[in-house]
Amino acid sequence: METISNRGIQVKVSPSIGGLADFLAAYLVKSSAKAGPGLFLNLALSGGDTPGAVFRALAGKYRDKINWAGIRVFWVDERCVPPSSGESNYNAARANLLKRINIPGENVFRIKGERPPLSEAARYSALADGLLPRGSGGPRFDLLLLGLGEDGHTASIFPGNIGLFGSKRLFEVSRHPETGRKRVTATGRLINSAAQVFFLVTGERKADRAAQIIERRPGWRALPAARVRPVSGSLTWLLDTAAAKKLKKPRPRRSR
Ligand code: 6PG
Repeated sequence: METISNRGIQVKVSPSIGGLADFLAAYLVKSSAKAGPGLFLNLALSGGDTPGAVFRALAGKYRDKINWAGIRVFWVDERCVPPSSGESNYNAARANLLKRINIPGENVFRIKGERPPLSEAARYSALADGLLPRGSGGPRFDLLLLGLGEDGHTASIFPGNIGLFGSKRLFEVSRHPETGRKRVTATGRLINSAAQVFFLVTGERKADRAAQIIERRPGWRALPAARVRPVSGSLTWLLDTAAAKKLKKPRPRRSR
């Protein structure tokens, strides 16, 4: 795993998504071990295709190494579909992770995509506000996993509705620009109050966008993913070699 530092942002590059899963697992093993009665690692998952392989690795070789009873699982965003839908982020996480590990049902807090979107965004905002400890920016996740869209979106905040990032609410309703599908999404207020944010990005088709954001190349400010800058937490990009291909920075020494 190579480590590059760019304006205080850590960029970890691994030849494969397996290496990225190992990095995430090491964090979860260490952090979940500290959990105790009433003290949880509050983790928020994103959807899309990328996390699937990582979730399967966590449920595979790390299944018995992570203290799942000490982890509470939330979602960064969800499509407004039933939990059984193939579009559902919850359904994907359940299939690839949750049903394969010993996590108590009461530790899993899905966004109810089958409910009316505005009402669910309000319900989930209140849930997060009530369950999460306070950070300097408000309710605070310990770790929030984000993906990156080719258009520079993250969570379900797209370039066309980037204003949602600055909402005072914790969750808002957005709409996918192509499919029109409504989604419930975390806003920048919640994302940037997290203690740790990991972007998990793989594949050559993301390389230009990742480099544009990480190295602040022209046009970077217009991208929702570029607004992710934890107020007092840390930001780490977990890239495979293909997604890191366009990074200009010299390759540093290889870190352990
Ligand atoms: C979603 C995600 C979204 C995703 C990116 C990357 O609900 O779709 O939260 O932000 O992380 O679109 O998706 P891929 O991993 O499929 O490229």
